[in-house]
Amino acid sequence: MLEISALSHFYGKHQALAEIALDIASGEIVAILGANGAGKSTLLKMIAGLIKPAPGLTLRFEGADIAELPAHLIVERGIALVPEGRGIFGELTVAENLQLGAYPARARASEADRLAKVLALFPRLTERMTQAVRTMSGGEQQMVAIGRALMSNPTLLLLDEPSLGLSPLLSREVFRALKQIRESGVSVLLVEQNARASLDIADRVYLIESGRNAGSGSAGEMKNNPDIQRAYLGKARAPSSPSQP
Ligand SMILES: Nc1ncnc2c1ncn2[C@@H]1O[C@H](COP(=O)(O)OP(=O)(O)O)[C@@H](O)[C@H]1O
Ligand SMILES: [Mg+2]
Repeated sequence: MLEISALSHFYGKHQALAEIALDIASGEIVAILGANGAGKSTLLKMIAGLIKPAPGLTLRFEGADIAELPAHLIVERGIALVPEGRGIFGELTVAENLQLGAYPARARASEADRLAKVLALFPRLTERMTQAVRTMSGGEQQMVAIGRALMSNPTLLLLDEPSLGLSPLLSREVFRALKQIRESGVSVLLVEQNARASLDIADRVYLIESGRNAGSGSAGEMKNNPDIQRAYLGKARAPSSPSQP
């Protein structure tokens, strides 16, 4: 459903992404692993239309070129981003944040139905609907952020480090929710530092190092790859990274 090739990005002179290629089939959970600064957030922002890509790339969603579309039209195509740091409105209530997610035209007709689905996914939000989001725990705020993205009726959900800073218990709840989201027919592209939990729920995995593709494969293959075990699963000391040509 999503096809990317030759995607590059410069922040001034600094090349954050170099000729990235990636694809996602309908119904997949795809995880992107990579160290801090590898370019993961930049990649998600480009897919979501928040950063303009350098020319010459392929960025297609469900067969259509979306490289030139502004962010709000990408949401209308069915791609929703849960950004790093969640991007929710702390002074607003849970209900208000969720309502904002239903603003896109593609979501308005089904708002009540979608709200019921979000509350089924995260039952603990039900009794918090009138609470200001800033007074909630990090895990609950992440649920609001994911819920808000789902309110836009996406077919592809992008998540930037959803488990960052969460307790192990709430992290597990977030990963469980992602599996349920996929079961409901929404494809998932997940950027994570928690490699173990990502490999457990993902179908396929891409590695990104210094803005470049550094490997990809099924989650099963990746789990058994000694380099991945060293670098991402803490099975032994990670080697210093080899310089890229
Ligand atoms: N707005 C920005 N201006 C300049 N450099 C940036 C900006 N955002 C990110 N970078 C740089 O681009 C690289 C990739 O960043 P990012 O995509 O946030 O990586 P990741 O999400 O993998 O940690 C890093 O070297 C980072 O310092
Ligand atoms: Mg990031």
